[in-house]
Amino acid sequence: MSSPALAALAALPQADLKSIFTTDPDRLSKFTLRQGPVRFDWSKTHLTDELFEGFLALTEEKGFAAQRDALFAGEAVNNTEGRAAEHPAERGEGNADSVARAKMFHARMRALIDAIEGEALGPIRHILHIGIGGSALGPDLIVDALGGDGARYDVAIVSNVDGTALERAISRFDPEATLIAVASKTFTTTETMLNAASAINWMVEAGVEDPYGRVIALTASPDKAIEWGVDETRVLPFAESVGGRYSLWSSIGFPAALALGWDAFESLLEGAAAMDRHFRLSDPRQNAPLIAAFVDQYYARVLGCQTRALFAYDERLRLLPSYLQQLEMESNGKSVTRDGKPVDGPTAAITWGGVGTDAQHAVFQLLHQGTILTPVEFIASIEPGHALDPAHHRALLVNCFAQGAALLRGKDNEADPARAYPGNRPSTTILLDDVTPEVLGALIAFYEHRTFANAVLMGINPFDQFGVELGKEIARSIEAEGPKGFDPSTMALIDLALGGV
Ligand code: F6P
Repeated sequence: MSSPALAALAALPQADLKSIFTTDPDRLSKFTLRQGPVRFDWSKTHLTDELFEGFLALTEEKGFAAQRDALFAGEAVNNTEGRAAEHPAERGEGNADSVARAKMFHARMRALIDAIEGEALGPIRHILHIGIGGSALGPDLIVDALGGDGARYDVAIVSNVDGTALERAISRFDPEATLIAVASKTFTTTETMLNAASAINWMVEAGVEDPYGRVIALTASPDKAIEWGVDETRVLPFAESVGGRYSLWSSIGFPAALALGWDAFESLLEGAAAMDRHFRLSDPRQNAPLIAAFVDQYYARVLGCQTRALFAYDERLRLLPSYLQQLEMESNGKSVTRDGKPVDGPTAAITWGGVGTDAQHAVFQLLHQGTILTPVEFIASIEPGHALDPAHHRALLVNCFAQGAALLRGKDNEADPARAYPGNRPSTTILLDDVTPEVLGALIAFYEHRTFANAVLMGINPFDQFGVELGKEIARSIEAEGPKGFDPSTMALIDLALGGV
């Protein structure tokens, strides 16, 4: 480990979780933090006073405060691409010029939404949002979490190039009442462009008079969208400095703003802005995203945990794990530091998870008795998302808290080892007041800043994603020139499934 502060941390003794509340009786108050509508509880992790001080030293060593200032100032923190990372500006926080530009783009988005609501584009009932990765996962999460009843518009988010995805979505839509939103930062992504072309064909075949009149583009490359056929008046731009996986706050959030209403979209932005201010202004000792990163760093880099698991005990947040997979793994799944040197240890753990209580009946066996130590994160809401018998929500929360206690405490059984639970397994709990636009905005912004804080502590750039390029390049070359020079396995697969083409 080339970082002196990290080496010092690694030399500290590992706490025994089973007895940790006895040896450190004040830890509940020390290691919990409330930020607006979100309460964080790290008291059931291995975090101790010594570790905490050690991580504060690492924070200093890595120049965290200056890098955080650079992020919010709109400096080129994405050094490998020479770009800023200005998602906070979309929420009104950061460089004044960027904030003004984001406001202007939001105003255009709102005007188009008003026009659609006023039926300027016809009697729209269905929104077919086509995009992939960051151009789909964020809107999908928001619409699913907050607009589940489809009361205003029926939204389908189609990402996969597998035609089954598009076919399933359009089979329930009336082409005469559908708006197609093509969401792509670059407006070149193969999957998205193919899905968009097929969606237009579907309209043409159904006899829709002016299919392109029902298409809008959400993009940082307006020229490409116009060239593709979208009318200039229906192109909703966003800034190049907003990264794909950080883009749901921009025009990429269009289906959420339309389905939930503009006020709800603004509340989402405001919730995120409150978390931005917390992250930017709070002392490291009281800074939720930074403290969460301490915990992540301890498990991934000191104890060598290769995964971290996340369970939302709330059906509304069922898409959160897949959203966070992209955010965390595409941002911090790197092997080199900002200056291109090999990184001094493991980087992002694999993020995986699901919803409680379903996951208890599927994967929790391994968490309780398996041999792989996995830090677990529970997320729950005090308020339910339904009006059914309160017994449902009570059972949900009781189960959530019981799992955390069981992981910590375990249970001895010398007579029957198969029925023994080792315990001593860490968990964090994030308790939300409710799942509202404001809370969800704050929660997502918390994860964004936590990802950034982790990157700073490891010395890496979280804002590029060159790792995804090679496979795309090879696929393009196969399409353009046919398969050449691949290994025998790849050649045989292409031959078998595609007849050599
Ligand atoms: O392949 C990775 C990626 O570049 C993501 O980072 C991005 O969110 C996604 O593809 C979609 O890109 P675009 O919005 O340009 O279509």
